[in-house]
Amino acid sequence: MKKEEKKTDVIINEAEAEVEKAPEQKEEVKEPAKKTTKKTTAKKTTAKKTTTKKTTAKKATAKKAAEEPAVEEKVEKAVEPEPVVEVTPEPEVPQSPRRSVVFIGSECYPFVKSGGLGDVMYALPRELARQNCDVKVIIPRYKCIPWEYQEKMVYRGAFDMDLCSDGRRFYVGIMEYVHDGVVYDFIDNEEFFSSGNPYTSIIDDIPKFCYFGKAALAALLYMDWIPDVIHCHDWQAGLVPIYLREKFADTKLANSRSIITIHNLRFQGIYNIDTIQYWSGLPDYVFNKDHLKQAYQDANMFKGGLAYADMITTVSRTYAGEIQTPFFGENLDAHLRYHSGKLRGIVNGIDVDTWDPATDPMLYEHYDISNVIEKKRVNKQKLQEEVGLEQDDGKIVLGLISRLTNQKGLDLINAIIPELIDGNTQIVVLGSGDPQYEDSFRYYEYTYKGTISSSIMYDETRAHHIYAGADALLVPSLFEPCGLTQLNAMRYGTIPIVRETGGLKDTVEPYNEFENTGNGFTFDRYETGLLLDAINRAKTVFFTDRIRWDEMVQRDMAKDVSWAKSATEYKNLYLELTPR
Ligand code: ADP
Ligand code: GLC
Repeated sequence: MKKEEKKTDVIINEAEAEVEKAPEQKEEVKEPAKKTTKKTTAKKTTAKKTTTKKTTAKKATAKKAAEEPAVEEKVEKAVEPEPVVEVTPEPEVPQSPRRSVVFIGSECYPFVKSGGLGDVMYALPRELARQNCDVKVIIPRYKCIPWEYQEKMVYRGAFDMDLCSDGRRFYVGIMEYVHDGVVYDFIDNEEFFSSGNPYTSIIDDIPKFCYFGKAALAALLYMDWIPDVIHCHDWQAGLVPIYLREKFADTKLANSRSIITIHNLRFQGIYNIDTIQYWSGLPDYVFNKDHLKQAYQDANMFKGGLAYADMITTVSRTYAGEIQTPFFGENLDAHLRYHSGKLRGIVNGIDVDTWDPATDPMLYEHYDISNVIEKKRVNKQKLQEEVGLEQDDGKIVLGLISRLTNQKGLDLINAIIPELIDGNTQIVVLGSGDPQYEDSFRYYEYTYKGTISSSIMYDETRAHHIYAGADALLVPSLFEPCGLTQLNAMRYGTIPIVRETGGLKDTVEPYNEFENTGNGFTFDRYETGLLLDAINRAKTVFFTDRIRWDEMVQRDMAKDVSWAKSATEYKNLYLELTPR
């Protein structure tokens, strides 16, 4: 018992010590420390009730006296002191020790985002900061980052770094921006990041991310910011765990532990060994079949990172299982089975402050669970008007917000569109990507004017309008590591229609008409007929049992899709990796 108490003391001290280390984070650190003190005071209060009461009462009276000089009142107060609130009825805040973590990845909202990775790189660090983590995010300083953020960045320093096998050196600049308890450091190098967008072609991307991974670690050393955990995201940060052990083993970073998160196994950073070896400057022996080598003469940056990382996570439990099978494993299923002991699935959440229909500045009409049915109608009409659909509240509006790639089940949608068009159904598409899909959706818009609308572009505001204005959202993915659009949809009271794969399976509970439970409509095999059936089931409820439909809308809005629980799982993982 005593031992335990001592342990807690140490933890608190540690937390306080960290305050000195990270001045930018003071507020966040102080909060839990304060709470601990409160708890201790509460305990003491119960033990020495009378004494404490008196002292507190005295203090309270003294304070009051200073504020209110009225004599009578003072006397009254002295006779009957105001009741002192002894034990704060606050919910128990789990006091978990502080850890420092750096996120290294290729995109982060609102600076640069091409999909869900950008959302996670933004929302998870924020939630971890709330849960007593000291968090830094490192991403490249791309030219496309909007000026409103570029101008707020502060120059943090610069140095030269050796990179290639012939000792070629490169400039590394660090620009910093602090927001909401999270420190963002941008790696600056015009040669690699001046092209604008994060991803250009694999020929440019391989050197770019060889450079970025090493520069991120070197920047940590330069800033003398030594994290407990280095959390890498997707293949673009794949070399980080390797550099950490092979190039930084004699530095202060030697004790940091590494985690790599698989957001999408489809992209792995594969190129010939010679090129990757040249740019990374990594030694011959890491290019073996258990680490970086793939097939005969290729190197795979993700594969190497997965082997070297202390822990692997992916963004849902189902996907963690799926990627160990040949269909979903993208040629790495055996590798992942081999490393399955250090593989975990933690489902994504969304930032419920950014995605909040009650406050979302982009919406036509704000709403919450109490007025969603009426206000969503307004958003629906405005959406129909905005995208050129016939303004008719009686029709069901099916939304699709997606990168246009075969991962997203677009072949299924394309195949059944003519069957969906029944005079009561409208479809609104927002996305960009493969020309084949862009063209097919353009064709459908042209063919079914006023009934189908295709916005072939990336547009945050329109995405928010669709989440708020559509009745249902289609996510019939071929595979989906987690998927965030179904979470956004539920938060906005839009019913998801999804295929039971990856995170879609883990986050959307199928509608059960007998028990009137569930959050959406689902189907299992990747077949056009099954998608059509799921949409028809949704339509049946929408058109014949609107009360049930509306109840589901409200159930979805009430569902917890926040990061809170999953961030705690990550935090626990950090603690597990760095026991003290
Ligand atoms: P993925 O990362 O595979 O693209 P996710 O469902 O995890 O899929 O995340 C997609 C994110 O990108 C969501 O926040 C979604 O709203 C957004 N998004 C996708 N396409 C567009 C688009 N064309 N315009 C605006 N936002 C989009
Ligand atoms: C990937 C996946 C998507 C996931 C996102 C964020 O882009 O395709 O399913 O939600 O990463 O983890």
